[in-house]
Amino acid sequence: TLPSVYGSMSQVIAHRGASGSAPENTAIAMTEAVKQGADWAEVDVTISADGHAVIFHDNNLNRCSDGNGLVIQKTLKELEKLDAGSWFSPFCAGEKILSLEALLRLADQLDLNLNLEIKPTIGREAETVWAIQQTLARASFGPSILLSSFNYFALKEAQSLLPHYTRALNVEAIPSDWQDRLDSVGAEGLHFASDFIDYNMIEEVVNAGTPLACYTVNDFETAQKLLRAGVSAVFTDYPDRLLLDARPVSQ
Ligand code: G3P
Ligand code: MG
Repeated sequence: TLPSVYGSMSQVIAHRGASGSAPENTAIAMTEAVKQGADWAEVDVTISADGHAVIFHDNNLNRCSDGNGLVIQKTLKELEKLDAGSWFSPFCAGEKILSLEALLRLADQLDLNLNLEIKPTIGREAETVWAIQQTLARASFGPSILLSSFNYFALKEAQSLLPHYTRALNVEAIPSDWQDRLDSVGAEGLHFASDFIDYNMIEEVVNAGTPLACYTVNDFETAQKLLRAGVSAVFTDYPDRLLLDARPVSQ
């Protein structure tokens, strides 16, 4: 078993890359994250029609590309023809949808650690985790990887196909049965939403020694407060805002 990545994780994780300053989940969002001082990025992983792991947040292509329809109904070749930058800015025209394979190559060059958030089409969890496993098995990737998902079946599949990777359960609000939920999928960390910050629950989870991370936090004060409360890391669209003061927060 690989050692838990939480022990060495940075406090600031670029959410979908530096997605406040560049089109989310693209190469430019990764290079921008590193420019802004981040050494961890979160990305969303799903699959193409021909079973390749690809980096895209929505099921549907409309918001973040010039394509239409469902990602899972296009081949990787079709996805790679789309423009995934113009929707964000004309200056980003020509940015491509990344395969996980291409992302791993880039992140390896950038020395960027990755949180792969598994976002399967419901009912295609096993295929999605299988694609990720195949890609990871073939890649030579130096930095660390953390796997996470909201999806129970994806995490169960990851527990069996990728048991040596640190895994986290994503939730919106921290549930009172958080420990049982983590145990049921063999996950170590819990990632919750900033809309549901509850310092009593945070204290309970932190006191149990369970790593916590909070998405998405774009202001410095909230980030500081969470980190002081023992949250291990925050996901942000604007790494530069939170890294203004790069000194570690004393707890
Ligand atoms: O992985 C944390 C966060 O990215 C989960 O929400 O919708 O931004 O993927 P979402
Ligand atoms: Mg995500």
